[in-house]
Parts: sequence; C-alpha cells; structure tokens
Amino acid sequence: MDKNKVLELVKPKLTAARFAHTERVVETALELARLYDVNQEDTILAAALHDYAKYRDVNEMANIIKEHQLPLNLLSYHHELWHGPVASILIETELSIANEAVQSAIFWHTTGSEGMTELEKVIYLADYIEPGRDFAGIETVRKKAYEHLNEACFLAVRNTIQFLAGREYLIYPETLKMYNDLKRKLEETI
Ligand SMILES: [Fe+2]
Ligand SMILES: [Fe+2]
Repeated sequence: MDKNKVLELVKPKLTAARFAHTERVVETALELARLYDVNQEDTILAAALHDYAKYRDVNEMANIIKEHQLPLNLLSYHHELWHGPVASILIETELSIANEAVQSAIFWHTTGSEGMTELEKVIYLADYIEPGRDFAGIETVRKKAYEHLNEACFLAVRNTIQFLAGREYLIYPETLKMYNDLKRKLEETI
C-alpha cells in the first residue's frame, strides 16, 4: 500500500503532534529497512500504524486484551504499554490489515521482546530515534542505529530499563528478556 494512503488511515486517530511523530517514524524506519534489507511494504505498514491505538480509552483497551487473548499480564503493568498489542488487533478488525509480520512489529513496539525479527527491531528503533526525539544519550543510539542493528536496539532497551528503574517503575518481563537476549547475542559475536 502507498505510504500516504496508510498515513491517511491513521491520521484521524492521532493528535497533530503524534501524527508528525508517526511520519518521522515512517521515514526513519524506511532508512533502516533499506540498510538492513527489510521488506519496505511491511515497514511502511508497521511504522505508519504503530501508534494506531495510542489514544484509545483505557477500559476499551483492557477489554480488547481480555477478549482477544492478548497476554493478561499486560493488565498488571502501565497502560501506556497496551497500545501496541491492542493496535495489532485493531488494524485487522478495523482496517482489514492481516499481516502477521506487521502485526507482530506493532505488538512489540512498546515493550520489546526476545528473539525479535529484523522488522520488529527496525520499528522499535525508529520509534526510539526518530529526529523529534531529544533526550540524554539519544545521539549515541542514533549513530549506532546506522551501524549495527542489534547493538543499537540493545542501547535503546538498556536506556529504557535504566530510565524505568531510576524512577522505580515496574518493568515488563519482555523488556528484560529483550535486554538479556541482545546481550547474549552481542557477546556471541565478539
Ligand atoms: Fe507507541
Ligand atoms: Fe510511536
């Protein structure tokens, strides 16, 4: 599907600022996809639709998690994490986009996971480094993103865990699994 057509599908669901973020995620994800040889069409769909459920009502998201057999442990963690898994369902039920690779990349963009596919990593990273993001350490991850996909994802999840732990927030188990998985993979390649 054409990039602009997919963006038009998500535009009514987002604020202007979140839509601008989404456009930047698409461009960043396409750069990474070219570099790491990831399917361009899947990248456009996943990047454009990754925040499709960002502004859904919390109760509606909780119901979708229960009704569609999404992991129930999500409900014990911050609802900010829910919009990825929920969007993976809604793009199929509301937009008729049934594409397992795309849905999985959208699902895991909020938490990360172990054994991530290249597409999942590209979306996770593009969301983290898009040019609108500005926080301590971002330049290091941005530079690494164009050199080594696993190393850059490791830095992103490491920073995220440091941020969460620093504020004594809960950390979703899959986020810790992503950290451990990438750490082991990077050690194996040394
Ligand atoms: Fe998101
Ligand atoms: Fe996002």
